[in-house]
Amino acid sequence: MKSLVILTLLVVACQSSSDKQRRFPDDFLFGAATAAYQIEGGWNEDGKGESIWDYVVHNNPAYIKDLSNGDIAADSYHNYKRDVEIMRELNLNAYRFSIAWSRVLPTGMINNVNQAGIDFYNNYIDEMLKYNITPLITLYHWDLPQKLHELGGFTNPLFADWFSDYARLVFQSFGDRVKHFITFNEPREICYEGYGTDTKPPIVNNTAIGTYLCAKHLVIAHAKAYHMYDKEFRPTQGGQCGITISVNWFGPDTDSDDDKLAAEITRQGEWGIYAHPIFSAEGGFPKELSERVAKKSAEQGYSKSRMPEFTEEEKALVRGASDFFGVNHYSASLTSATEHKVPHPVPSLMDDIDSGTYTPDEWPKSSSSWLTFAPNSLYNALTHLNTRYNKPVFYITENGWSTSNDRGLIDDDRIAYYRAALENVLDLLDDGVNLKGYMAWSLFDNFEWNAGYTERLGLYNVDFEDPARTRTAKKSAFVYKHIVTHRYIDHDYEPEAMIMTID
Ligand code: BGC
Repeated sequence: MKSLVILTLLVVACQSSSDKQRRFPDDFLFGAATAAYQIEGGWNEDGKGESIWDYVVHNNPAYIKDLSNGDIAADSYHNYKRDVEIMRELNLNAYRFSIAWSRVLPTGMINNVNQAGIDFYNNYIDEMLKYNITPLITLYHWDLPQKLHELGGFTNPLFADWFSDYARLVFQSFGDRVKHFITFNEPREICYEGYGTDTKPPIVNNTAIGTYLCAKHLVIAHAKAYHMYDKEFRPTQGGQCGITISVNWFGPDTDSDDDKLAAEITRQGEWGIYAHPIFSAEGGFPKELSERVAKKSAEQGYSKSRMPEFTEEEKALVRGASDFFGVNHYSASLTSATEHKVPHPVPSLMDDIDSGTYTPDEWPKSSSSWLTFAPNSLYNALTHLNTRYNKPVFYITENGWSTSNDRGLIDDDRIAYYRAALENVLDLLDDGVNLKGYMAWSLFDNFEWNAGYTERLGLYNVDFEDPARTRTAKKSAFVYKHIVTHRYIDHDYEPEAMIMTID
């Protein structure tokens, strides 16, 4: 009798504490994300062609911190059923992954379709759908077919045509079952890092115009693919097509007008040059930055601005061409008009922006130099975007925390980061922001680009020494599962035993 009373009291106590919790809506999509080159391996299997990442890791191995590559990575090409099992263990509603362009079109061009590549993604998708997991496809997550790079890649004005051919193949092949398409992952990392600096393949490093030229061609390619989906596929497939932009938060260091302007120009250079043409009412590149580039270009002896104009026709094509705004958010910095400046090449995007950024010492640091745990950064970023771009539909398509590779399975800092970010999501939902889903980065450890396997962002550990690439749940996986399953954040929840099962 006594134990029955205690049990009843406990149940009542638990219920009332969960009743007080703010809840995520039942139709809110909780998922995790990955990208083809980071997980698949099978880099030349069954007819896959070479991508710019294959080319760089094989020809310039020292480019990667631990001299590793994605030739095998987490070997998802052979382990995709285990990947889906992990999604089931976590009770995920959704999974965001990317198609390797060169797996389905080995040369990048439409004349040569690799059926084995199409079959691989069909199997992956069908396996997810068996368990009611909603697939979200990213068409381009950084792995341009090398042959297209040899023709200039994103700097060739024909890029939009090549991308359209590829996009049509993806919509045709998978759109009967996949209802969420993301054209590009992170234009900033594609254009600034790949074309405006030497930090990512294809290492073009044209600081003066590389970023801007790529930005213009990328948003036009996005818009053409969007309109194609809208006209040719939406009537029968009924899905959505959007883009994912990396939006880290840049706030002013002080309340001075100069610092506020510096933060605004920084945001324009970091994400505005990709978001503004698509999501703003006026279209085209953002005003303050484009005026600054035009002025500097004239002073530097150029006959026209290094930032290309959009014609009125191009502006109209691009403006409004997205069903949703995918946001990848990780970190934040404070921006100053005068302090913390470091030298930049002249001319370059960073020289055009001409501000200093820093992160205060008290913000916890991850294993990645660019990733700090900044208070309310997700909330600040989304609130700003929501106002600036007139309340679009949002998905958080990536958010996560990196640890070193010797950390093992106990990742309390990742848990703290996720809980704080998800509290921000609840704040945004309370404010009426039209946020439809959240994808943790990443489902499991993978090839972390230039950092190789030295930085880990997975909910599951992958043993990269083991030929089977065994995946094991970290503590954060249990916590994420608890949130996804119960639809609220229990800050006191501790997994009893670290044994993961499918419920
Ligand atoms: C990218 C991912 C990457 C993650 C962590 C994002 O910029 O989309 O591919 O692994 O950040 O660096």
